[in-house]
Amino acid sequence: RLPPLILGLESSCDDTAAALVRGRTVLASVVVGQTDLHASFGGVVPEIAARAHAERLDLCTERALQDAGLPLAAVDAIAVTAGPGLIGGVLSGVMIAKALSATLGKPLVGVNHLAGHALTPRLTDDLPFPYLLLLVSGGHCQFLVVRGAQDFTRLGGTIDDAPGEAFDKTARILGLPQPGGPAVEAEARGGDPERFALPRPLLDRPGCDLSFSGLKTAVLRARDGLVADQGGLTRRDRADLCAAFQAAVADVLVEKTRRAIAVYLDEDPAEPAMSIAGGVAANSAIRGGIETLCAETGLRFTAPPLALCTDNAAMIAYAGGALLAEGVRHDMSLSARPRWPL
Ligand code: KG4
Ligand code: ZN
Repeated sequence: RLPPLILGLESSCDDTAAALVRGRTVLASVVVGQTDLHASFGGVVPEIAARAHAERLDLCTERALQDAGLPLAAVDAIAVTAGPGLIGGVLSGVMIAKALSATLGKPLVGVNHLAGHALTPRLTDDLPFPYLLLLVSGGHCQFLVVRGAQDFTRLGGTIDDAPGEAFDKTARILGLPQPGGPAVEAEARGGDPERFALPRPLLDRPGCDLSFSGLKTAVLRARDGLVADQGGLTRRDRADLCAAFQAAVADVLVEKTRRAIAVYLDEDPAEPAMSIAGGVAANSAIRGGIETLCAETGLRFTAPPLALCTDNAAMIAYAGGALLAEGVRHDMSLSARPRWPL
């Protein structure tokens, strides 16, 4: 017997997404970004995001069905991101999911966006529980021990900005395009990471908590110093600042990961493994540093392909399927939650 066909919907930030997943097969995954809509505002505008999600979720669903060559009636259950995120967007998804569930007479399951990211490594790899996960995106940064579809232990996380946010702000400070991560990484490639001494926030404190807002302030100060001294930034200055910033983020993430690994290994997992999720996982300095660390400490490292690391609905459908298999069902009382810690 085939596993159920799950329709997943995601609309918690600035990507509208629909996907069809059966077991561990992604039959379709449609993601429509909103970068263009928010570009002139210097950040995601919640009201604009919500309106765009409401307008596009049905079109994304239609396209996913077309891509998979399946009729809507083939869907066995609807999984939707019910938080955490920008409330207007989450509400748009939850309302459409309820309407689909009611008209099709199929089960509804609300999924925590973070659980979606955290379970995705199991969609693409035979990864047994418990594994260690570093979630690093534009909105999130935390270490989780993933023990089951509904069982997570948070070992620590950022106390201010997420790393992706820091990359985006650094790009803005240096006049680079958004999203900042890829732009800063490209500039950093030709830069000298040692010319500017940037801080390594919270490394002096025990535990797995992180902080990134001071780093971006340090970049701002260095830029203002250069502007005051020489009237502007050269290509070289920009590259060196990007390299220094990226090296600082990577150092902090790798060192805190070392501590998270120690806590995780303390439990003596049968098959120690670590994975990474979120858009910042695309950064090769950060990813490479963590891969090396895993090799040194005897952890298997596995990471989903990038399209499944960034926001998407396949992860929501997959996590929804895992919850359904554990008997989780929601009804019309399912609410959208702006905050929802795992
Ligand atoms: O997971 P994601 O697509 O969206 C959420 O934040 O939920 O992550 C987007 C973030 C952005 O802040 C972007 O600048 C960052 O991931 N990012 C990167 C890279 N590619 C994307 N950060 C560093 N290096 C990259 N290569
Ligand atoms: Zn996300």
